[in-house]
Amino acid sequence: MSTSMASLEAPLEYSFDELLESGEYAEPLMAGDVLCHGGFNQEGVYRSPRILNRKPAILAWQQSLQASGGDLIQISPDLIPPQYPSVDQSVLLCRNGVREPVVRALTVISVVEGFGAVIRDVKVPDLASWVVEPIQGTALSHLRGGLFEAHARDEAGWGEEGGHKQMWEAARDLAFEKPEIPPDVLMRIMGGPGKKRRERKRLFPELDETLESMVTTMCNVLIVELFADEVFRWGKSVLSNSEISAEPERAAAMVGYIQSDENPHVEYLRTALSELASRTLKTVDGKTLAGKEVVDGMLHALLGQMIRTRPADQKEQAHENLSELFQNAANPSGLKEEFLSLEQNWSPPERTGFEPQAAACAE
Ligand SMILES: [Fe+2]
Ligand SMILES: [Fe+2]
Repeated sequence: MSTSMASLEAPLEYSFDELLESGEYAEPLMAGDVLCHGGFNQEGVYRSPRILNRKPAILAWQQSLQASGGDLIQISPDLIPPQYPSVDQSVLLCRNGVREPVVRALTVISVVEGFGAVIRDVKVPDLASWVVEPIQGTALSHLRGGLFEAHARDEAGWGEEGGHKQMWEAARDLAFEKPEIPPDVLMRIMGGPGKKRRERKRLFPELDETLESMVTTMCNVLIVELFADEVFRWGKSVLSNSEISAEPERAAAMVGYIQSDENPHVEYLRTALSELASRTLKTVDGKTLAGKEVVDGMLHALLGQMIRTRPADQKEQAHENLSELFQNAANPSGLKEEFLSLEQNWSPPERTGFEPQAAACAE
């Protein structure tokens, strides 16, 4: 590590191995009989994996950005759609012996966490040739140098160690005592009704295609990571309910450990995107474009779409076999009525907060 700016406490340059370092734990984290990442210190407090240097590094990059006049991207928590079925609906179903939708939802979450490993395959162009200002000592210059890899390992596990995929499975199995998993979970995720391929045309065709694609993926993942706040709130509330959970404390604690691991994901992504937004990008035809225009434009487009489609998709998926499942309950029509009486109506906010400048002024 070398200190590039004497005024900052933590260095701005790290090697790949340094960003992946976890340090020592007094006790490892076990999810059932699976060894997981992270662990506990002497006081029994959980410590996330790979944050020994990654955490101070991200903070140092954020301070450096702000010291040079850059702003950190803030996405409003008002944009986060609620999880479906809601906590109350999920508890109602489980209480009536209809656990499938909740077991399915938890399994889907674990599978999606495992998909997080694709972040290590994101292609990073030669940034120095597409960004006008220097990028040394930034999160942006460490994406391939450990940040994407640490993120991938956190989500999907690495080697012998389980990651979030295995931790969500463990939370589910603790609460519901190794429930039967619906056999079509994966099939529905891949080809379910909500997963119709949405054609996306390039928003910034004047940019290098690899650069645009990287920004798109990073914005997408940042939004998913932020929306996960609601998934964690839901997961902890449902799994800690002693009426329906066999291990309320341990299951909810496991979700809490996963949640604390997500913080560095949100932070490095918004830092790197903010760094890009405070710089100038070169286009393929030799002109330039403000990074802010690209990052804000991308976030606006993706958020605008996701806050509208995600709630509808989740609801459509849940309702696919709900009537059939209600038939197993003691009083199918009564249960259905009560379930529907708990529907929450959520409408996405009018604005994403990343509206293009001209439009924002015109309103
Ligand atoms: Fe995760
Ligand atoms: Fe994550």
